[in-house]
Amino acid sequence: MSVETGYDQWAATYDEVANPTRDLEKEACETMLQDRVGGTVLELGGGTGKNTGWLAERCERLVSADLSREMQAVARAKVTAANVEFRIGDVRENWQFGTGFDLITCSLILEHVEDLGHIFREAANALKPAGLFYVCELHPFKQYAGSKARFEFEGSEKVLECYRHHVTDYTKAAAATGFAVEDISEWFDGGDRAELPRLIAFLFRNEE
Ligand SMILES: C[S@@+](CC[C@H](N)C(=O)[O-])C[C@H]1O[C@@H](n2cnc3c(N)ncnc32)[C@H](O)[C@@H]1O
Repeated sequence: MSVETGYDQWAATYDEVANPTRDLEKEACETMLQDRVGGTVLELGGGTGKNTGWLAERCERLVSADLSREMQAVARAKVTAANVEFRIGDVRENWQFGTGFDLITCSLILEHVEDLGHIFREAANALKPAGLFYVCELHPFKQYAGSKARFEFEGSEKVLECYRHHVTDYTKAAAATGFAVEDISEWFDGGDRAELPRLIAFLFRNEE
């Protein structure tokens, strides 16, 4: 099953079913970006709009892009702010989302993208100088332990195609495209640092 078909199927229940990864990412996003959102923002893989409204309230213009029409349909119904423009697009292809962004956000999408280098090259082109690139993903430690994006559909479990990215895959792809690391943080269920971290979040700055 393609990632697009998978998320089209998941869309109806994505917001409803218990999902600690989704919920913890919202906390990570709002914490790491609390003073950093403004100007024009590009949200990659905006999904059902979990972060879209929060971002839109803090910036002048937001472009929210996703591969899945069904996921985005939920976001469109939820977020009706006039400064939000929804686009259908695949981040694995050449981006047609515009340029000159102050901030790009990417929450829980890169586990479905094999080529991180492409993403960082496109992000560098789309950002202003000194623009920020926020990336938050399932922690690779969780991936090593077997975690993958999965959901129930019509009585059976569906597991989506996922790629494993190590911490240095992100930092090396970022460095190769002229990004500096401004922040890295790890996010734990219930803040319990004795367990495996669930998420890793990066804030990169475009130095080009
Ligand atoms: C786990 S959901 C995360 C949605 C939202 N960012 C959040 O944190 O709740 C992943 C989203 O990424 C989108 N996605 C996956 N691969 C994509 C691609 N190649 N291009 C654009 N969007 C993609 C999916 O359609 C889905 O909406």
